[in-house]
Amino acid sequence: MQDVPDSAPMTPKAQSAATREIAALAPIIPVLVVEDLAHARPLAEALVAGGLPALEVTLRTPCALDAIRAMAAVPGGVVGAGTLLTPDDIRAAKDAGARFGVSPGATPRLIAASVEIGLPLLPGAATASEVMALFEQGYDMLKFFPAETAGGAPALKSIGGPIPQVAFCPTGGVTPENGPGYLALPNVICAGGSWVAPKASCVAGDWAGIEELARAAARLGPARS
Ligand code: 3PG
Repeated sequence: MQDVPDSAPMTPKAQSAATREIAALAPIIPVLVVEDLAHARPLAEALVAGGLPALEVTLRTPCALDAIRAMAAVPGGVVGAGTLLTPDDIRAAKDAGARFGVSPGATPRLIAASVEIGLPLLPGAATASEVMALFEQGYDMLKFFPAETAGGAPALKSIGGPIPQVAFCPTGGVTPENGPGYLALPNVICAGGSWVAPKASCVAGDWAGIEELARAAARLGPARS
């Protein structure tokens, strides 16, 4: 994977080229809510060992940025920041060492900041118009959010009819059971999900259990019809 120079501007097209590469690393990107900084490193090690190198740490806990810093040092990991809502979030994520960013949606200011700061952004979209607006700006790799409530795999399949150029990482309600249905679509590269890092397993320090969940997620493939 190409190194991105620090804080060099990055066009939406170049951002999507980078996020496509990251999305192709494994079928699932774990969506992580890190409550305790001490969990960051062993959690990342377990997920990477289980075959899930791309990790999304949501900026929803006080230690999230420090968790990104700690996880970024884990060999083989590609750590990104999720729940990016503002330009300040983009800057903070980049400074913490995030290699990509994820947002539930997209705003003009968020996109301008990702271009200026040079953080490959996976912006969220749930409707054809949102997909078209982002595609118009150069993004062709998006998060489909909230995946299950926005219509699930059938909705994404329908969007892929008229807009096949755009690929997705569906997130929100994705499970080991419905994941293969998404992964079978030609416009899905990977999916995001939080089930691989249950809170109880983190609290119990059950890193072997999380590695096993990751291993099973890494084996998920397209549903056979
Ligand atoms: C999130 O941002 O929390 C993601 O949508 C994860 O959703 P999930 O918990 O349904 O996997």
